[in-house]
Amino acid sequence: TAAPDLAGRHVVISAGGTREPLDPVRYLGNRSSGKQGYALARTAVARGARVTLVEANTALPDPAGADVLRAGTAVQLREAVLKAAADADVVVMAAAVADFRPAAYATGKIKKKDGQEPGPVALVRNPDILAEVAAERARPGQLVVGFAAETDDVLANGRAKLRRKGCDLLVVNEVGERKTFGSEENEAVVLGSDGSETAVPYGPKEALADVVWDLVAARLG
Ligand code: PMT
Repeated sequence: TAAPDLAGRHVVISAGGTREPLDPVRYLGNRSSGKQGYALARTAVARGARVTLVEANTALPDPAGADVLRAGTAVQLREAVLKAAADADVVVMAAAVADFRPAAYATGKIKKKDGQEPGPVALVRNPDILAEVAAERARPGQLVVGFAAETDDVLANGRAKLRRKGCDLLVVNEVGERKTFGSEENEAVVLGSDGSETAVPYGPKEALADVVWDLVAARLG
């Protein structure tokens, strides 16, 4: 069994992927299964933390011992994360959050019109939850951990994202149609705002989760 080095700590973890509805039938979504976030939740429970898991559109069993909140869209996820973060020691954003949502929601199913080409879909920006949590720090000393899902120039993009988002740790992982999304394994480099870079070799998502908690526990002191 793991050392209870997160005992007495409240950690908030987001997992899964948001879905941004176009009409009652369709949505814009992504390939996140939630497995990495759930691995973080299970390992945090094992290390003694009080865990609030905010999940979006996953199909995974609730982790034993965690409080699970449900969100569908980025706006709903933001609301649930901000509320839970109010008394959190650590916030980890493992969810894949849509950067944009359709500008309009059609209350009835959008129909094809005979002889007419489809028009473009207008999008508007979603709130950046990670940047907001990091800027706000609802509690003194609160640690904020983000993820970066990249397909190209993975590390360079990760380093820029760490600075932009203002979080303490950023877990940089490569993603693709069959890479990382939905799989049991992951590999990553965890960047620290102190300039540290911790490479985590390919292995179970739980192993990466435990490295994240090691780095968090060291920073919580
Ligand atoms: O769920 P799995 O199938 O196990 O796959 C795991 C994963 C690939 C989803 C996970 O490891 C991962 O990388 N999660 C973050 C996905 C993502 O949205 O990355 P991003 O680089 O687009 O965003 C950077 C960070 O900002 C993330 O922490 C994200 O949660 C956050 N964000 C992004 C946009 C937004 N509007 N608000 C946010 O808070």
